[in-house]
Order: sequence, then structure tokens, then C-alpha cells
Amino acid sequence: MDGNGRWAAARGLPRGVGHRAGAQTVRRIVEACCELGVRALTLYAFSWENRERPAEEIHELMGLLDEFIRREAPSMHENHVRLRAIGRVELLPQEVTAHLRRVIQETSGYDRLTLTLALSYGGRQELVDAMRRVARLVREGRLQPEEIDEALIRRHLYAPDLPDPDLLIRTSGEQRISNFLLWQLSYTELYVTPKLWPDFSREDLLEAFVDYERRERRFGRLVCQ
Ligand code: FPP
Repeated sequence: MDGNGRWAAARGLPRGVGHRAGAQTVRRIVEACCELGVRALTLYAFSWENRERPAEEIHELMGLLDEFIRREAPSMHENHVRLRAIGRVELLPQEVTAHLRRVIQETSGYDRLTLTLALSYGGRQELVDAMRRVARLVREGRLQPEEIDEALIRRHLYAPDLPDPDLLIRTSGEQRISNFLLWQLSYTELYVTPKLWPDFSREDLLEAFVDYERRERRFGRLVCQ
């Protein structure tokens, strides 16, 4: 959800105001995804590297996250949205995680839209965590190294049951993956828009979907099968 800082700077406002506007966009886009029949939406809300930002900005982001979860919980119930989180979530402030975990638990039976927040998340860190768990199984004699394959590694990712994303939308013109879902993005279609995240609208989302629809996904094969 790139571009909050630039959106604020362009208006001579502090970065926090940009993040607040970004949180409004989250609300609009979740609503639009629900209406448009999207089954899974994963938002990169706080990266492993974002932890290095100034304490004040992190504090603001955590406040916005908490506010979002509290305010949106009723509409998640109403719209049958399942909330999940991936990342080293246990490193977030306890006040935030307590409420987050409660809403995750309360919405776990819904399946209209799975809204996954990537928090304290890094793709490399996810792979490290998966490797550690696999290594423990080998050490305990419950797994032979020869049994390690793609399916087994996938089972040790943070949310193994989530499908690989069809489409990655990157706002503010950035052309990088930035440590996001490194395993899962292998054959994901990339879409880069110059729009800053606070300005990203339902129409922009539709434009991305139309662009995606025109693509031929071959997954490395010659023809689409
Ligand atoms: C990147 O923009 C954005 C973030 C680091 C935070 C995203 C958080 C929110 C949109 C709000 C809270 C989250 C939820 C789920 C309600 P940037 O700060 O790097 O912007 P810049 O590239 O223009 O500096």
C-alpha cells in the first residue's frame, strides 16, 4: 500500500495523515472486493523492514491498525469476511494483537472474503520460519530430508491454505516485490499503477482486474491449459 508518505508530503502534511488516508482506502477496497466477488485479499500493512521506521510512525501505524480492526469488526461479521494475519505477529504490541486475535477467532468461520493482513511480515522471514520448523521435524526423526518437497514447504508457510495470488497490485509506481510473499508470487501477475495508495479507488481496482483479464497465464507452459 505504497505512497501514503508521498500523498501527505504533496499536501504539506505529516506522514501520519497519509497513513490515515491510506486506512480509509483499505476500507473502500475491502468493501469493493466483497462486492466484486474477490475471495482472498492480502494487504501488506507492516513489513519486517518497516520495523526500522521512527518509533512515532510505528506508533501511529499500530494505532490505525487497532482502530481499523475495532471499527471494521461489525462489518466483517455482516459481510462474512474472515480476518487473518501473516508474519511475526507476536512482535507487535500486545494491545494490538489481543484484539486482532479475537477478531481472527470470531470470524474464522466465514469464507466470502478472506482478508489477510501481512504484519511484521517478510517473505524471507516466512521462509526462514518454515525452514526452522522443517529442520525440527528432521531432528526429531519425524521427517527424512528426501521427503522435503514443494508441498511440504508450502505446508509450513504462515497460511498454507491460502491460494497463491492471481494478481499483485503495486501502487505509487514502485517496481519491486519488497520481500512480499516470495514463495507464493512465483506465477502471480504483476500490475503497477502510478496512483498513490490513498488515491487508489474502486475504479482503479476494476481497471487492474480488466488488465488482468486480458493476460494469458501460461505458468511456464506453451499454451494455457
Ligand atoms: C507504505 O507507504 C505504507 C505503509 C508502510 C503502511 C500501510 C498502512 C496503512 C495503509 C494503514 C494501516 C493499515 C490497515 C490495514 C488499516 P509509505 O509510508 O512507504 O509511503 P511513501 O512510499 O510515499 O513514503
